Amino acid sequence: MMNNWLDQAIFYEIYPQSFCDSNADGIGDLQGIIQKLDYICSLGCNAIWLNPCFTSPFKDAGYDISDYYTVAPRYGTNEDMKQLFERAHKNGLHVLLDLVPGHTSCEHKWFHESCKAEKNAFTDRYVWTDSVWKEPAGMGCIRGISERDGSCAVNFFSHQPALNYGFYQPDPAEKWQQSMTDEGPKATLEELKNIMRFWLRMGCDGFRVDMAGSLVKNDPDGKGTIKLWQNVRHFLDDEFPAAAMVSEWGEPDKSLQGGFHMDFLLHFGPSHYNDLFRCPEPFFSARGKGDISAFVAKYLDSYKKAGTDGLICIPSGNHDMDRLAHNLQGDALRIAFAFLLSMPGAPFIYYGDELGMNYVEGLTSVEGGYGRTGSRSPMQWDDSVNAGFSTAAAEKLYIPLDGSSERPTVKKQLQEESSLLNEVKQLIALRKAHPALQNHARIKFLYAEKERCPLAYLRSSENETILVLLNPSNQPQSFPCELTLTEELYHFNALPQSKDGKLLLAKQSAAFYRLRP
Ligand code: NOJ
Repeated sequence: MMNNWLDQAIFYEIYPQSFCDSNADGIGDLQGIIQKLDYICSLGCNAIWLNPCFTSPFKDAGYDISDYYTVAPRYGTNEDMKQLFERAHKNGLHVLLDLVPGHTSCEHKWFHESCKAEKNAFTDRYVWTDSVWKEPAGMGCIRGISERDGSCAVNFFSHQPALNYGFYQPDPAEKWQQSMTDEGPKATLEELKNIMRFWLRMGCDGFRVDMAGSLVKNDPDGKGTIKLWQNVRHFLDDEFPAAAMVSEWGEPDKSLQGGFHMDFLLHFGPSHYNDLFRCPEPFFSARGKGDISAFVAKYLDSYKKAGTDGLICIPSGNHDMDRLAHNLQGDALRIAFAFLLSMPGAPFIYYGDELGMNYVEGLTSVEGGYGRTGSRSPMQWDDSVNAGFSTAAAEKLYIPLDGSSERPTVKKQLQEESSLLNEVKQLIALRKAHPALQNHARIKFLYAEKERCPLAYLRSSENETILVLLNPSNQPQSFPCELTLTEELYHFNALPQSKDGKLLLAKQSAAFYRLRP
């Protein structure tokens, strides 16, 4: 279960549509990603999470799969994927694919079969009621398009029928609700393992699992879903013990019990993740009006339950959230990264966040993106045509580029010593050089008070302890602290001062110190 490479893993999330277009059709592809592996390594990242790249009608950017076993032609072929795994491994990178176990596209052939009146191998692949007039309570459904007399539950958008893993406690009065041990749900789970086996054999190193907490229905405490993932864990332990699993669940106390190595804190769920960067007064904003205390209280609660093996991952963002730079600018972004790259858990950097790429306002929704579309615009590489993303005509781009003349690019920021990109690289290098800053090293919060700044914590491994001091606000801040600041490892803006049993932190500053043993 313990997975060695995860202790030092630093992930880079790639939204394949928007990363690099190698064949001038306006959309990113696998060969484009291969061309940019060196860039990812140069950041210091050593792992990639790739959003779905499987065959799909793309009504939800690929989270609506119509064939789990083939790469979508717009990204390339299965051979390209194999090459991506090989090249990544040669460069010391691990690759996680995105596994979407909860639903398919309604264009999947399983769903077409499942819609038929006559019983067949896929009749029970999805969650169907026994009458078109009966909707599955609380779930949303597809109805009125099948020969079969029933309504099919959906998971997210109404074109994403829910795969059937059974109900935790089926209602005996509703005969259509199957239990987890019925044949249909069991077959769905076995097929899921086949899909995982297929890509793991090809060379993938694990999966980010979409909506991992919602597979079993009528399962408010997640007990059935935890059991299901424990079953998958046994399969992986037997066949692919090195495979890494990260869940989109947002409740580490549950997901880690289910055998996941890592869980994300997300913009939904109980984690208070939004308090950090994405609420009207985020803690990391220079206004200094935010409150970190609820986040820390919940974090510590999950941290205790997660035990020493589980990783709680705090992403810089992802393809579903506003860009980090939407709410934070300038120095605030740097201090946010000093936090992200000094916390336990595996860091996940969403492509372009390392440059402070902007959320592009006012875009028409692309492939079910809606408000998320502005966070999915093309990567900004340089000052050539289309910022080096693609040589297609601008109107052919999958999503328009950030049109600002000030838009950050990799090229510009590499040249500028004090750029965010260089800061991020420096922070990553520091994390890699110090075991106390790595993924499993322990954390102890020293100061994280209600409606107060700064934030201070200790990270410690067997042989070292590092003090992290963060003051995102535009005012100097102090807190009671008797520690002697000896060996400075990193600082941003003015250094802290020690006075009368207090540490005084300059406005918008960050500093890391190694403490004497
Ligand atoms: C979560 C994914 O991150 C999101 O992009 C997608 O729309 C939903 N799950 C549905 O699969």
